[in-house]
Amino acid sequence: MDKVLITGVAGFLGSHLADHLIKAGYKVVGVDNLIGGDLENLDKQVEFYQYNCQDFEKINKITKGVKYIYHCAATAHEGLSVFSPTEIAKNNLVASNSVIAAGINNKVKRIIYCSSMARYGRQVLPFTEDMKPMPVDPYGICKVAGEETLKILCDLNKVEWVIAVPHNIIGPKQKYDDPFRNVISIFLNRILQGKPPLIYGDGKQKRCFSYIDDCVYCLLKMLDDKNVISQIINIGPDENFITINEAAEICSNISGSNFKPEYLEDRPQEVKEATCSADKARKLLNYETKTSLEEGIRKTYEYIKNKGPKEFNYHMDIEIKNELTPKSWKDKII
Ligand SMILES: NC(=O)c1ccc[n+]([C@@H]2O[C@H](COP(=O)([O-])OP(=O)(O)OC[C@H]3O[C@@H](n4cnc5c(N)ncnc54)[C@H](O)[C@@H]3O)[C@@H](O)[C@H]2O)c1
Repeated sequence: MDKVLITGVAGFLGSHLADHLIKAGYKVVGVDNLIGGDLENLDKQVEFYQYNCQDFEKINKITKGVKYIYHCAATAHEGLSVFSPTEIAKNNLVASNSVIAAGINNKVKRIIYCSSMARYGRQVLPFTEDMKPMPVDPYGICKVAGEETLKILCDLNKVEWVIAVPHNIIGPKQKYDDPFRNVISIFLNRILQGKPPLIYGDGKQKRCFSYIDDCVYCLLKMLDDKNVISQIINIGPDENFITINEAAEICSNISGSNFKPEYLEDRPQEVKEATCSADKARKLLNYETKTSLEEGIRKTYEYIKNKGPKEFNYHMDIEIKNELTPKSWKDKII
């Protein structure tokens, strides 16, 4: 039975991947320090270690006998990274370096690295994989630095690598009480608390959203497909490019509430329009959007409703507190 290590296994993406890999007959070893994950997400068959990926010695030990690594551990907090660059660098860059080193040291066959659309920054739309990365915030910078480290060290040591670029995933098991990220889940959690969606700026920012299953089947194909070796591939839809205002409206309609959004000041450094081309994924992974945006939001809504709305938990420290720091975070009003 091939052994797969999933970092960030108690998180949204990592736990879904674990479910599918277990079903497919793999032995899954998982690591998570639970900064953003939840043990409730975990299948009991995962051999789980509550370690920090920054701790090379520990990661090196559990990577023994592992054939493939999915590196999903991260603090995927793009907006917050502008105000907490130290914590973000630890969990996105230092943690990645340690996982890459452990993989190489233990002669794994392949590392699948989860990057982010933040790698592109502000460029002509839609973002394509051949564009030069131009991140505009510490989160994006860390993701790109991790990518470069992965490429250099894996090529040097003849370990296969693939870089997945998911974007704005929604679905069950996503953390919905984190005030710093996951806009759709935040809207739905607030609506279920009887509060209107809160929007930074004018709400005309545009994004595409992908349903978790549509992202996971692409990642699963990246495990051993030969065509994806040394490739960077965007994962997710390029249709249904909608404004945050429209996203809030869909959330209100699905929940049957009549809330009108409330508006807050712009968030510094936010990229206004961001969407990725799915052409390469269509070609290499037979990507197609199987779950519509409305259906994806509905499934996310049902999940949060069943679990029950939760108070937002300000679990990350804000390092830079000044006039640019969003009041919603400083005053904990989300
Ligand atoms: N969800 C999205 O929309 C999205 C979009 C683009 C990229 N990504 C990338 O996909 C990956 C998974 O994201 P997600 O949405 O599942 O996030 P998530 O927060 O649900 O999962 C990440 C997990 O990593 C764990 N973690 C963080 N730092 C760690 C550390 N130092 N050591 C051990 N565990 C640590 C967290 O506890 C969490 O369980 C990340 O790399 C993220 O950057 C996600």
